[in-house]
Amino acid sequence: MSKSDIPESEKDDNPTTNQSWGGRFNEPVDAFVARFTASVLFDQRLAQQDIQGSIAHAKMLEQAGVLSSSELAAICDGLQQIAAEIAGGSFDWSVALEDVHMNIEAALTDRIGVVGKKLHTGRSRNDQVATDIRLWLRDQTDSIQPLLTKLQQGIIELAASEAETIMPGFTHLQTAQPVTFGHHLLAWNEMLERDFGRLLDCRKRLNQSPLGAAALAGTTYPINREFTAAQLNFDKPTENSLDSVSDRDFAIEFCAFASMLMTHMSRMSEELVLWTSAQFQFIDLPDRFCTGSSIMPQKKNPDVPELVRGKTGRVNGHLIALLTLMKSQPLAYNKDNQEDKEPLFDAVDTVADCLRAFGDMIPAIRANSESMFEAARRGFSTATDLADYLVGKGIPFRDSHEIVGKSVAYGVDQGKDLSEMSLAELQQFSDQIEEDVFEILSLEGSVAARNHIGGTAPQQVRAAAQRALALLKTRN
Ligand code: ARG
Repeated sequence: MSKSDIPESEKDDNPTTNQSWGGRFNEPVDAFVARFTASVLFDQRLAQQDIQGSIAHAKMLEQAGVLSSSELAAICDGLQQIAAEIAGGSFDWSVALEDVHMNIEAALTDRIGVVGKKLHTGRSRNDQVATDIRLWLRDQTDSIQPLLTKLQQGIIELAASEAETIMPGFTHLQTAQPVTFGHHLLAWNEMLERDFGRLLDCRKRLNQSPLGAAALAGTTYPINREFTAAQLNFDKPTENSLDSVSDRDFAIEFCAFASMLMTHMSRMSEELVLWTSAQFQFIDLPDRFCTGSSIMPQKKNPDVPELVRGKTGRVNGHLIALLTLMKSQPLAYNKDNQEDKEPLFDAVDTVADCLRAFGDMIPAIRANSESMFEAARRGFSTATDLADYLVGKGIPFRDSHEIVGKSVAYGVDQGKDLSEMSLAELQQFSDQIEEDVFEILSLEGSVAARNHIGGTAPQQVRAAAQRALALLKTRN
């Protein structure tokens, strides 16, 4: 039905400001206050979900006998036209109409006449907006999942191909023991695997329908909440109407997931930045993920990881913003909750962008295995292996620790790694040291010896990568 088809008597020719609630007001809202309280400039992002929710609600109203079938048809038809107009970018948003909900309702009434005004029967913007955000966030979690999976897959595949590449493992950023690069990468994957679990968990709890809670207490109409929940693919209706319109813990949970993920990606970023530096030279990032300097011609800067590291701050900020927004709010709905959207939207966008950037960049990393190996050789990284060797010869660990400490001090003095000393040099510190020591002092021997689940031996890394890939395949 177009506007010209509507009988003159049914046209709503006076869609003035505040038409939805202006009845008890004696003067129009102050122009600045209207702008200050409006959310349409940002909540229009919920438009498609708002329309989806309205169609489900209208179908339910028809079943309940509140709308006739022709009224339902007019409403659905009108809403679909509006959805197409919004998607096409030609919809005229009005700040005077406050928010996405009233803009769409006014446009509907404008198109189909007073029937449009019946849509809001048994409903409030309070349950409407709670429904919209849940639908929107559910869609977003569904599109973030494959981005995270792609990143994990890239990491695991790189780990499998770098299972034998030896690098220094660090504690306190000091060389500690040799590890394989593949092992290090699989540590990243474990962090992300847990983040994926947190995302799924968040989705599980948010997927309940608040529709029907109305303003706060429910409604006197014979509504069918199971029906609307099923129409919108929610698992079930929420239990309590006050809680339904009030809590935004699902958005907080998403931001907590997002913060944790960003924290993990910032740790990866920090390592990537270090590893690309001239001091480390462990990896190369392809030029397409870097930028240059306008003054220093030699520079190739790792901008992508630096930005991801930097963006962690804003996502953490959004989490704190939402926690603080919710803190101390009395039941049930308060206008404070209108402030939930911008932090949530930006957290979603930031996480999606960072995952996309990392997902493209990680598989393109080129490992510089010679530099890694050399670095591992320089830092006495097999000192623990020597101590363990002496324990094997019957020396108590505390004594062997002391013996090795002295050997390292000698090595520092002479500029020699333990593996570069002669047998006679090593025997100055213990007569228990024999020719077989050189095998355990080698970096290859050191990593190969840590051959158990979770250990750094190449064999274990290959098996762990296989298990991790198999786990990814169980995702749909
Ligand atoms: N724009 C509002 C929000 O985002 C919609 C709900 C308004 N409800 C109300 N009673 N004023 O929270």
